Amino acid sequence: MSSVETWGMTWRGVIEEYAAFLPVSPETPRVTLLEGNTPLVPAVFLGKNAGVSVHLKIEGMNPTGSFKDRGMALAVAKALEEGKSAVLCASTGNTAASAAAYAARTGLRCWVVLPEGKVALGKVAQAVVYGAQILQVPGDFDSALKLVRQAAERLPIALVNSVNPYRIEGQKTASFEVTQALGHPPEALVLPVGNAGNITAYWKGFTELARSQDFSCPRMCGIQAEGAAPLVKGARVSDPETVATAIRIGNPASWDGAVRAAKDSGGTFQAVSDQEILAAYRILADKEGIFAEPASAAAAAGFLKLVDQGYFRKGARVVIILTGHGLKDPERAMALSPQIRTIPANLEALEGEIGSGA
Ligand code: F0G
Repeated sequence: MSSVETWGMTWRGVIEEYAAFLPVSPETPRVTLLEGNTPLVPAVFLGKNAGVSVHLKIEGMNPTGSFKDRGMALAVAKALEEGKSAVLCASTGNTAASAAAYAARTGLRCWVVLPEGKVALGKVAQAVVYGAQILQVPGDFDSALKLVRQAAERLPIALVNSVNPYRIEGQKTASFEVTQALGHPPEALVLPVGNAGNITAYWKGFTELARSQDFSCPRMCGIQAEGAAPLVKGARVSDPETVATAIRIGNPASWDGAVRAAKDSGGTFQAVSDQEILAAYRILADKEGIFAEPASAAAAAGFLKLVDQGYFRKGARVVIILTGHGLKDPERAMALSPQIRTIPANLEALEGEIGSGA
């Protein structure tokens, strides 16, 4: 985890930074948009109210605004190394945006398949501007993923969903950063779970670290939306529904990895309602000054629910993973916004409005 000056910068992106811990060789292209190295921000309000020490890992600060960039850098590097000229994914939006960006960066063609009408606007806009070929299919993410998995078996194209093991390898680097920033792993890690690649990746990272150093791994707390909570229920959900469209998934591909992470770490799965997700979305913005997308707010909602259940010991160190930026879903933000009033463009009117509120 050394840091060497490159182009005048000290951070070199996840592949170069963590090469010793990743399945890369000197021949693997160092594809990067300088992803990773995201802030770990103390959450003073959440921590004080809960009697625990809380940090928020702001994965929305990655180049395309979500954690996907960590794994995408490696998946695209490997696609290049294997001589592929195109990448393909199904996506609830963030994987598509990330794949499109890294494909553009490296000159690969990018095909994305989206569940029709269920992808947040900012994510579609990103895929459009990065020049991806965008297709949508009726139904949910699960059927879109099934379709692209079948296609990838027949075509010379790299599938860059988290069923691609390089995605998991790249994403595990976030657990290294959390550990490095705190000096040791937290006692609990709370994160949203959809297709379950990320919880699998964090757990892989922590267990690998624990093998080489003497510390214990965090309890992994996977949070799902009530209407899309197969891991909480222990059964597939055929018609997943939630405001947190990123995690609107009924049949996670990395089901076994997620179950292992929760079980082996002594962690848990927890479901949160859309109402709880939106309440946490407001708290993050209002009280912590952090704008995260609804799927990320689900993790904060799950944290608050676990606090209510007395899940954490007093003073415990907890890290909540905020997986994606709030700007990804401007429509959700505006739906919550009060009417914006127009006033005359003069000082009197403005002073009249502010009145005693200054
Ligand atoms: N948070 C956000 C913002 C996401 O975009 C996703 C997944 C998750 C959490 C859940 O992560 O799937 O590894 O359990 N988004 C995928 C996509 C499915 O297509 O962008 P997971």
